[in-house]
Amino acid sequence: MTRKLPLNILFSAAQIRRRLDRLADEIARTSRTKELVAVAILKGSYVFLADLARLLSNRQIHLVVDFLGLSSYGPGTSSSGKIALRHDLSIPLKGKSVLLIDDILDSGLTLQYATALLKKRGARTVKTCVLLDKPSRRKTPLTADYVGFTVDDTFVVGYGLDYDNHYRHLPYIAAIPIEPSPVAARKPTTGIRR
Ligand code: IMP
Ligand code: MG
Repeated sequence: MTRKLPLNILFSAAQIRRRLDRLADEIARTSRTKELVAVAILKGSYVFLADLARLLSNRQIHLVVDFLGLSSYGPGTSSSGKIALRHDLSIPLKGKSVLLIDDILDSGLTLQYATALLKKRGARTVKTCVLLDKPSRRKTPLTADYVGFTVDDTFVVGYGLDYDNHYRHLPYIAAIPIEPSPVAARKPTTGIRR
C-alpha cells in the first residue's frame, strides 16, 4: 500500500506557517492592487490556497477565488506533454489582476498553459505563486513570481500534494521514497491534475 511508505518530513506545519506569513507579506507589498482574483489549479493547491487566502485577508488583500482543473496525462503511462482543461473558470477575468496558484512548479508546462489561458481570457495581469519549486525538472524557461520553498528532484507529498491520491491531508510536506522517473510514470494516467 502506498500509504505505508516511510515519509521523510522536509517542512513541518510550523515551518510552512512561518513561510506563508512571509509570502503573504511579499504578495501584499508587491501587489499594485488590493483586489485580486486567485485562480487555484486543482487539486493539489487547495490547502495552500485556503491558508494563503486567509493570510492575505489579514493584510487587506481582497480575493475572489476560482479554480482551474488541468491534466497533462493521456492514456497509458507516458505523458502526452499536452495539457487538457478538465474544469474551466466560472467567472469573467477581463481586466482583472490574477494571482495564479499551484502546489508545485515542476516541468512548468501546467503553469505555462494556465498563464496563457488566463491572458487569453482577458486578465490584465497574471502573477504566479507556487508553494514549491523543483527547478531541476523544468522543461520551459518559466519562473514563478512567488515561491514558498525550493526542493530537490524528489517526490513530495502532504499539504495538498498527493501520491496516487493519498497523503493530501498531511499538515506537513514530506519526501516519499519512490524511484525518480518522468512525471507521467509517477501518476495515474487520467483525471484532474493533482
Ligand atoms: P508541471 O510543472 O506541469 O510538470 O506540473 C506540476 C504538477 O505536477 C503539479 O501541479 C503537481 O500536481 C504535480 N507534481 C509535480 N511534482 C510533484 C511532486 O513531487 N509531488 C506531487 N505532485 C507533483
Ligand atoms: Mg497540481
